[in-house]
Amino acid sequence: MLIDVTAFAPATVANVGIGFDILGHTVEAIGDRVRLRRIEEPTVRIASIGGIAGALPVEPERNTAGRAVQAMRDDLGLAYGFEMEIEKGIPLASGLGGSAGSAVAAVVAANALLSEPLPPLRLLKYAMQGEIVASGSAHADNIAPCLFGGLVLTVGIDHPRVKRIPVPAGLRCIIVHPHMRLDTRDARAILKADVSRSDFVWQSANLAGFISGCYSDDLEMIRDSFNDVIIEPQRSSLIPGFAAVKRGAMSAGALGCSISGAGPTVFAWSEIQYAEAVRGAMVAAFADHGLATDHWISTIENYGARVVRA
Ligand code: HSE
Repeated sequence: MLIDVTAFAPATVANVGIGFDILGHTVEAIGDRVRLRRIEEPTVRIASIGGIAGALPVEPERNTAGRAVQAMRDDLGLAYGFEMEIEKGIPLASGLGGSAGSAVAAVVAANALLSEPLPPLRLLKYAMQGEIVASGSAHADNIAPCLFGGLVLTVGIDHPRVKRIPVPAGLRCIIVHPHMRLDTRDARAILKADVSRSDFVWQSANLAGFISGCYSDDLEMIRDSFNDVIIEPQRSSLIPGFAAVKRGAMSAGALGCSISGAGPTVFAWSEIQYAEAVRGAMVAAFADHGLATDHWISTIENYGARVVRA
């Protein structure tokens, strides 16, 4: 029986522009690692938090990874406990699914230590408990892709259904992270509660068009429907230079460009041959607004969280 495993969970782009709280995809370049050890004491404790961590709480109930494993341990009524070491690779408050990454890596590692491992949908629910600690609400648009890999749609919260959506071959995601932080709670708090009927119709059409374009390899449909008319207009003022970054990406050949999760990271999708030019335009536009960046070009259809050392 295993007693010590390490799991890796990738960063994620939530919302993907038009699917607020329900759509997300993985980014292979970066991620969090959690090492978990089975211990005799019936408790969950965090031994260390390293990497690009900043100040994160080590009390398990206040930490996304700690809370997720606590939820799992309590639900299963386990007689033993877990000690964890968290290695953050996803920048905090970046809009790249850092809280989901740690929670998912932790439950995937814990699952490998169970005598009878659980199916991923069970793990999703535990990881969502961790997400509540970070953002104040239960949404799975980071957690589901982080767990399953690729572009993922989640329908429902109490009994979520998860669907992996195919992505046309040869597409890349360009991710540009400006060196600033945005708290998810704040970025959610500014959103209006109501939506006009016209915006509702456009957003529904765009989400349906985007997903059907993915299924049918129709890049023109993806380009035409890659337009968030509800959330992006409300949040874009939180990101200096957003309009110029988006303009740069689109002029360089992107299919679409929007805010990754709650921001401030901005992402774009493009065909592989335009990806470098899109990245260059986005990085330059942020620099014009005084913001240094980290940036990556990633495949979209890739792996979810997994055990990397046992
Ligand atoms: N869908 C969420 C949001 C992602 O945009 O607020 C952040 O966790």
